Amino acid sequence: MLKDKIEAALNSQIKSEAQSSQIYLAMASWAETQGLGGTAQFLYKHSDEERMHMLKLVQYVNERGGKALIPQLEQPTKDFNKLTNLFQTLLDHEVMVSGEINDLVDICLSEKDYTTHNFLQWYVAEQIEEEALARTIMDKLNMIGEDKGGLYLFDRDIENISITTGEQV
Ligand code: FEO
Repeated sequence: MLKDKIEAALNSQIKSEAQSSQIYLAMASWAETQGLGGTAQFLYKHSDEERMHMLKLVQYVNERGGKALIPQLEQPTKDFNKLTNLFQTLLDHEVMVSGEINDLVDICLSEKDYTTHNFLQWYVAEQIEEEALARTIMDKLNMIGEDKGGLYLFDRDIENISITTGEQV
């Protein structure tokens, strides 16, 4: 049985993962309207991944005798202006999520909930990969700058980058 404090913290993370999925969906849609088809596909996949992160938490809370709360979400920004702004927002967002996961791990230790602590290790590893990938993408974009040919190749190649494995083309 989950302690109330752990259940509340996990429910808050459910909202955060759902909100991440929503934000990346908005980013994907923006990219699609800018003619950045590869970037859009990458972000649609990223949005799906976040939904999966949320779902894992929902099922874990329910399995452990808690009640998962399906949250109301906020409207994400719909204009990203430039690709570098979009990916910087994504990187900053992932850094924030990593902080949330670390806080959750901390709560589990202070409450001596080693089962949830163990469950969260998957998220700890996932955050390392997601942050690393977002940094690599930012490095590439900074290198490309305003070069249109470079952006064309970036958009073509990003579609094949997998988030879960962090595998690069
Ligand atoms: Fe589920 Fe990208 O954090």
